Amino acid sequence: MEKYPGKKNTAVFISGRGSNLKSLIKHSKKKNSLIKIRLVISNNPDAEGLKYASRSKIKIYGNINKSNFENNSLKLLEKYNIDLICLAGFMKILSGNFIKKFSKPILNIHPSLLPKYKGLNTHERAINNKDRFAGASIHKVTEKLDSGKVILQKKVKILKTDNIRSLEKKVLKIEHEIYPKAIDKFLTNL
Ligand code: GAR
Repeated sequence: MEKYPGKKNTAVFISGRGSNLKSLIKHSKKKNSLIKIRLVISNNPDAEGLKYASRSKIKIYGNINKSNFENNSLKLLEKYNIDLICLAGFMKILSGNFIKKFSKPILNIHPSLLPKYKGLNTHERAINNKDRFAGASIHKVTEKLDSGKVILQKKVKILKTDNIRSLEKKVLKIEHEIYPKAIDKFLTNL
C-alpha cells in the first residue's frame, strides 16, 4: 500500500537556517497533512536546514552547480515527480523561465504583511516606519518578486520595546504556524 496516499509530492527550497523547513517536515508527518516532502534543495551547501532534513531521512541536494542551478533542479523535480515547491527562506530569485518550465504551483513565505515590504529587511523597514503591525504572508510565486496572490497572512503587534531581533523572533513564530496551514488551504482549494 502507498505510504502516503493522496499526498502531494513536495520539494522545499532553502538557503539557510531552515526553521520553516522544520515546521513543514513536522507537519508533513501528520496523518492529515496534504504533503509528502520528497526532497530539499538548497543553493547553499552549508545551509543548516539540510542537516535536519537529512536526519529526517529526506533526500537533500545542497551541492547543485551554481551556474546550472535551475536546470539541474528542474531535472530533480521531474525525477521525484514533484507537484509543489515550497520556498522556505530561499534567498535566490527564481527566473520566469524556471517558473514556466516547472508549470506547477510554487509557494513562498515572506516576513511581512504583503503587499508591504517586498524584498529584504522587512522588519527594519516596518520598525523605521513606526508601523503598528508586522507579520508574515504565504503567497504564490510569480515572475514578479513577492507579488503573487496571498494565500494566508497573520499579523503581530509591534511594541515600542521591539527591535529587529525581537520582531523577527515573533514573526518567525507565526511563520511556523501559518505556512503548514496555508499549504493545506491552497491544496484543498486547487
Ligand atoms: C524567514 O523569516 C522567511 O520568511 C524569510 O527568511 C527567513 C528564513 O528562516 N524569507 C524571506 O525573506 C524570503 N524573501 P528559516 O530559514 O529559519 O526558515
